[in-house]
Amino acid sequence: MARISSKAASHKKLSKEMMRSVKRALKNAYAPYSKVSVAAALYCGSGRIHTGCNVENSSYSLTICAERVALFKAISEGEKRFVLLLIHSPQVDFILPCGACLQVLNEFAPDIVIATMNKKNEFHFHPLKALLVKPFKLHK
Ligand code: THU
Repeated sequence: MARISSKAASHKKLSKEMMRSVKRALKNAYAPYSKVSVAAALYCGSGRIHTGCNVENSSYSLTICAERVALFKAISEGEKRFVLLLIHSPQVDFILPCGACLQVLNEFAPDIVIATMNKKNEFHFHPLKALLVKPFKLHK
């Protein structure tokens, strides 16, 4: 896992480290069924980057997305603040999180920004609030 000191967290340095992290995590994707590999890199308040990849299962619905793996890893390491989530798939340019991941992200990181990229390392940025306009809430 990479760490970026707050001083070094210039936009350029951060995006380079995030890209390195997401590409490293992609190698661990387990996607023999869909053949779509996905990785996520989550930049957290501590300055650390936690990564995740999708992990599929022959019982398809047990598959977990890269985004949730990264988020749950970070939470289990004690992270409380989530700043930026980069996701990447070589098979799907500018991949976006599924609805389930958006809902889970909203629980812990309603103000997070989601970055997505294509094969040419071009980025699009979306605030979670723009992708999930009306999240489910138990209480208003
Ligand atoms: N997947 C992710 O990991 N993240 C997404 O944002 C969308 C989909 C995974 C789940 C499954 O392993 C494969 O991509 C195809 O749906």
